[in-house]
Amino acid sequence: MAEEIIRSTQSGKVTMRLWRGDEEGGDFVEYVMPAQEGEVVLDVIHRVQATAAPDLACRWNCKAGKCGSCSAEINGRPSLMCMTRMDTLDTTVPVTVAPMRSFPILRDLVTDVSYNYEVAKRIPPLAPREKTADEVEAGGYRMAQIDVERSQEFRKCIECFLCQNVCHVTRDHEENKTAYAGPRYFIRSAELEMHPLDTNDRRQLLQEEQGLSMCNITKCCTEVCPEHIKITDNAIIPLKERVVDAKYDPVAWLGRKIRNRTKKTASEAAALAPAQGPAAVMPPGGVHGIPQPHSGGTTVVVEELVDVDVNVLSDVTETPDPTSPNNPNL
Ligand code: SF4
Ligand code: SF4
Ligand code: FES
Repeated sequence: MAEEIIRSTQSGKVTMRLWRGDEEGGDFVEYVMPAQEGEVVLDVIHRVQATAAPDLACRWNCKAGKCGSCSAEINGRPSLMCMTRMDTLDTTVPVTVAPMRSFPILRDLVTDVSYNYEVAKRIPPLAPREKTADEVEAGGYRMAQIDVERSQEFRKCIECFLCQNVCHVTRDHEENKTAYAGPRYFIRSAELEMHPLDTNDRRQLLQEEQGLSMCNITKCCTEVCPEHIKITDNAIIPLKERVVDAKYDPVAWLGRKIRNRTKKTASEAAALAPAQGPAAVMPPGGVHGIPQPHSGGTTVVVEELVDVDVNVLSDVTETPDPTSPNNPNL
């Protein structure tokens, strides 16, 4: 495939077909930009902002694939703009960049992802067990490394929400959002459920209020995850097994009784926890219909290659949500 791709630098130009508009509607606009070797899609978006469309809204922060802000649909594939190299795209045809389809549009390429933070608030947090006498004396918990490693993979999540965007349960079914947590929050629950110290039990919540059974393990979420987290195999399937065990397996039930291993249900945890804000609500607006790429519309041509000072661009910056489980301060 690499041989078939004609690099933009051979022609010296690249056409970006960017979605422009807001919640009221919009359309794709083409921008013909000078091409430069070694660029990623976000570089060219910045060039569009600097030369042709200073009012173009795009969210980004790190340009290193770590903040999860620059999620978009590039040629229809949910991707990070800062991690998608231009030389991996076929630039003999326009490169289409659209906002994530599953979330309400704020403006241009920026969507309102606050729905995800509302879902996060409903997951009971880590509740570590009491220390044993030995642990009190030693001044810390003791855990087997193998138990720690099991949930470590899920901590790599950068909350780009590409998996939430691609999941077909909500992508074309806005009505499912009230009853479905989505893959990002299934891995959050898995991370906590697999934590060796945790005493909260989220299985009933997952089954009855977060729609775990609606996931039919298509693995689309795993395919788009920029952190290569095996969302389906390592989080969702083990969670489904735990939920089934809790509900239908008498041997597992007996084992828990004998070992006296009891975890708090979500409602018991909520009663003990400090107030965590309101319950999840439907986001304003709905799944928006982004028109398909077309060959018409406005075309803006920029002839000169300019250096872009990213510090002065009028992007929409993101303030990390303090309630987000990805918040390093938690
Ligand atoms: S595997 Fe489940 S969570 Fe992931 S995209 Fe498919 S249905 Fe959604
Ligand atoms: S699990 Fe992967 S795709 Fe989903 S929000 Fe986290 S980093 Fe993004
Ligand atoms: S700007 Fe792309 S992940 Fe941070």
